[in-house]
Amino acid sequence: MLILGIESSCDETAASVVRDGRIIESSVISTQIEEHKKYGGVVPEIASRRHCENILGVVKKALGDAGITLSDVDAVAVTYAPGLIGALLVGVNFAKGLAMASGKPLVPVHHIAGHIATNYLSHSELEPPFLCLAASGGHSHIIEVLSYTKFRIVGRTRDDAAGECFDKCARAMGFPYPGGVHIDKAAQTGDPEQYRLPHPAVAGNEFDFSFSGLKTSVINLIHNSTQKGIEINRENLAASVQKTISELLTEKTIKAAEKLGYSKIAVAGGVSANSGVRAALSEACRKRGFSFYMPEKSLCGDNGAMIASQGYYNFINGITADESLNAAATLSMENI
Ligand code: KG4
Ligand code: ZN
Repeated sequence: MLILGIESSCDETAASVVRDGRIIESSVISTQIEEHKKYGGVVPEIASRRHCENILGVVKKALGDAGITLSDVDAVAVTYAPGLIGALLVGVNFAKGLAMASGKPLVPVHHIAGHIATNYLSHSELEPPFLCLAASGGHSHIIEVLSYTKFRIVGRTRDDAAGECFDKCARAMGFPYPGGVHIDKAAQTGDPEQYRLPHPAVAGNEFDFSFSGLKTSVINLIHNSTQKGIEINRENLAASVQKTISELLTEKTIKAAEKLGYSKIAVAGGVSANSGVRAALSEACRKRGFSFYMPEKSLCGDNGAMIASQGYYNFINGITADESLNAAATLSMENI
């Protein structure tokens, strides 16, 4: 079965054709990062306009690269939530038009469910149930993947997402947007022991995260050093930030797995590209004899293949939409 997946929730216009939820036939991503860099973050209005300009070409190329036409696809899947509303609307309306014109079923896909599905593309043997840490620019969730289409959130961030924390610390350190990848690069040659950063305690749900205190302490550390005329060692600070975020994410994920009885752990989302996060989780799982799954690095960021993969599982489980499908800026994945 061939699914065309369309993604436009943030600053990537992407489309892909995936076979049977697992095999990528084509994947096209048009990123707007260079344009948003000037502003230090995504400008929603610009994002929507660029999606409008790019979406037709991206979808045509995805079909062409797969060597098929629209008539060969079995369904059109699209990200409908969560994300920037104006950006989501472009993909949703484009997909609706395609589906209506071609008579193909329309399949709504939750963006975070899509990120989780990158693990199906990277690991042909992986099947639910498993526990997944989904960490991106907008989310940090620990999720029970009960089946391909049923999810239970057991932990979430109380404030900033892990990716947001990476990006805000990076910005304070003078790296361009999006800074997560720059922290990752700088951390390779840094010593994480020079700067000690806090591990904030979170009252209430023991699996919830909090990253805003970490961000504030990095900003304060930089201000204090600047006032005293002391130069910050960016590599060492990057290594500390990366180590701290990796430890926080790993500690809670492992704790949740032990408490809930999961020995199959996955990670997904933009932050799953981080080398410190990948190493910390994989080592913690190895020590406990847990199986650990992470997506190929090329699939960690937003892409259409993840939407086509999850779209396949939604479709075969009867999750489709009609022309009344609307985009939603926020939507819990427990309600899909
Ligand atoms: O999943 P994603 O591409 O978009 C959202 O759904 O938000 O995640 C983007 C986030 C950004 O915060 C970006 O800085 C972060 O993922 N990111 C990284 C790395 N690559 C991307 N953070 C740390 N290290 C990386 N290598
Ligand atoms: Zn994403």
